[in-house]
Parts: sequence; C-alpha cells; structure tokens
Amino acid sequence: MSAVPPQLQHLALRIGNAAGLAPDALASELKAALRDATAAPGWLPPERRRADHQRYARHLLYGDPAGRFSILSLVWDPGQESPIHGHHTWCAVGVYDGELTEFRFREDAAGRAPVEIGSERRVAGSLSFDPPLGSIHRFANRSGAVAISLHVYGVAADRIATGVNRIYA
Ligand SMILES: [Fe+2]
Repeated sequence: MSAVPPQLQHLALRIGNAAGLAPDALASELKAALRDATAAPGWLPPERRRADHQRYARHLLYGDPAGRFSILSLVWDPGQESPIHGHHTWCAVGVYDGELTEFRFREDAAGRAPVEIGSERRVAGSLSFDPPLGSIHRFANRSGAVAISLHVYGVAADRIATGVNRIYA
C-alpha cells in the first residue's frame, strides 16, 4: 500500500479537530473538509479506487486512533447501488469522482417499509451531512462510468461493518 497522501492526512486532522463540536458546527466543518478533499481529486491511491465487480467496494482510508470516526472511499461500477439504509451514527458524504444518484426514503406509517420521497443527482464535489438516524437513503450509480465517493462515519474503524448501517429488508 502506498504512503498516506498528504490530502488524506489533512482531511483526517480537520475531522479530528471537529469531532467534539456540536452537531451544526460538526456538519459545517465536515462539509468544508470534504469540499477541499473533493475539489482537488487525483490523490486517492489506485488500491483505494478499485471497483469490485460483484458489489460496490468499500475501502477504509483512515481510522481515527481515538475511535471517533472513520473515512472510507466507496467505488461504484455503473449499475451498482447500496441497499436502502439508515445510519446509527452521523455520516458525511462528498462525491469525489463521477456521478451518483441519492434516493431518499421515509418509513411507512407502521415504521417499517421505506417509501421513496425523492432523488437527487450528486456530481463530483456534492456534499451532505446526516445526523444519527437522520435519514434513510440509497446511493446508486446510474451513470455510464465508475463513481467514487468519500464517506466519514462517527464510529471506530472496527465498527464499520456493524455500527453504521441500519439496513431495510
Ligand atoms: Fe448511507
């Protein structure tokens, strides 16, 4: 694996400095940090922009030593999509390369099956922040080219598999 790119070191430092802030300030700091990280693409190492042709790929870029957050790159082949999910933790997303579509949902009256309420085309540089349990969504690559997004979650790296997504069947 290549050395940690300075852009990633800088991103991790900024997020670490913001990690203790109240939600509104945290949201704006995370978006500002991701804005810079996505405005100058090209720094993501080849092994962290590799697609998995079976399902969208998730690569860990950085795990905070104090366990406060993790940074991932997600790589989407054309046609790939996430499950419909909510988050147990806060989550910030910046589209790094290409184009994704984000579908938003709400729970039905019984609080279970998600109902689609809208979608948004998200091109490189597009930013978002969702507080814990703040939204239900699905990302999909409906374009004809590979797309890459950067995701920051408020959990330690060893909890990404179980502590982030709340999947809807
Ligand atoms: Fe998500």
